[in-house]
Amino acid sequence: MLRSESLRVDEIRKDFPILQREVHGKRLVYLDNAATTQRPKAVIDATVEYYSQHNANPHRGVHQLSLEATEAFEGARSKVASFINASTEETIFTRGATESLNLVRYGWGNSHVKTGDLIVLTMMEHHSNIVPWQLLAKQTGARIEFVGLTKEGKLDEDHFERLMGQSPSIVAFTHCSNVLGTINDAARLSARAKRAGAITVVDGAQSVPHMPTDVRAMGCDFLAFSGHKMLGPTGIGILYGRRAILEEMEPFQSGGDMIKQVHTTGATWNDLPYKFEAGTQDSAGAVGLGAAVDYLNSIGMKRVRDHEMALTAYALEQMSKFPGITVYGPMNAKDKGGVVSFNMGDIHPHDMASLLDEEGVAIRSGHHCAQPLMELLDVPAMSRASFYIYNSFDDIDALMQALSKARNVFCL
Ligand code: ALA
Repeated sequence: MLRSESLRVDEIRKDFPILQREVHGKRLVYLDNAATTQRPKAVIDATVEYYSQHNANPHRGVHQLSLEATEAFEGARSKVASFINASTEETIFTRGATESLNLVRYGWGNSHVKTGDLIVLTMMEHHSNIVPWQLLAKQTGARIEFVGLTKEGKLDEDHFERLMGQSPSIVAFTHCSNVLGTINDAARLSARAKRAGAITVVDGAQSVPHMPTDVRAMGCDFLAFSGHKMLGPTGIGILYGRRAILEEMEPFQSGGDMIKQVHTTGATWNDLPYKFEAGTQDSAGAVGLGAAVDYLNSIGMKRVRDHEMALTAYALEQMSKFPGITVYGPMNAKDKGGVVSFNMGDIHPHDMASLLDEEGVAIRSGHHCAQPLMELLDVPAMSRASFYIYNSFDDIDALMQALSKARNVFCL
């Protein structure tokens, strides 16, 4: 196939200090981007600049530094809101996608879900979009159903449709599987779930960093994602929530800044989005995330998606020619994000990842925080390569060479 890169990967790599280093004397081939991405200098510099020049507590003071910190923090929020076509009132800073999903579980779930209610999830969810709902079901007496998958690793649409017929109160699904790479049609699923009377919660941890996102077009009630999977710092994430729902929701955490007034007899809540941001926020993290958004916008999210699709198509082609490799999930790059999970013979994925590491190739191995999916596919673990803007066809060649070496070591 044509090895044409739509991005100037050589130029992009120069922006990432960590990609200049070697691992075990080899060029670092970083293919663990679904776990966390690397940071460009622009993001590192933005956080250093914030701490060096503007650090204070946003919203708390009238002194110059506090005003500058507020401007930087709220400026970052505006950037993230535009990135997903949301308003700033609907863009809540959290510690990551996990906390965002827990916010919905406590803020909406606690006051709306009743005994006997149905929560619909899918068999391709990450634990962070399963366990909060299991706890909610345990607390309220609600029940959970998981939409099954086709052999190809896509959602079983008939099963989804049957479950919508049971009028669920929550439908929570991933936009892009962190294991199979499967991209779900979030707009269509959200519209159907809404007609069934449910609120829709989309896990965008593996989609927002990799493709254009428009929450209005998606039509979901909530969208959760993390900064560290999109070139930003760890410890910062986002919950988008539809304004009308956020208005009627109870706070998640409580304390400073999320209140309007506190008296000995009770308290009233601050306006959106601050009602959901209790305590001092990670303003440096937010500023770093704003810089990550600027960096991604300078490339263009459609080009990011096109680049990853080309890499994924190439990786799938190479792997399908390689004897003994089983690839999981859709085999058409159009249907999946830049995530390729596989096993080779009966080599344990941890042994595979260690061998690849010796060649400078970083992949993830294990259950990928998706144990129900592993059980469904009847495998204990998988190896996973996942791509981003600084990966090239050469990186996939390096992966395939390392896999050949592994095959020889294990005499397959
Ligand atoms: N959710 C991350 C992954 O899939 C940690 O690796």
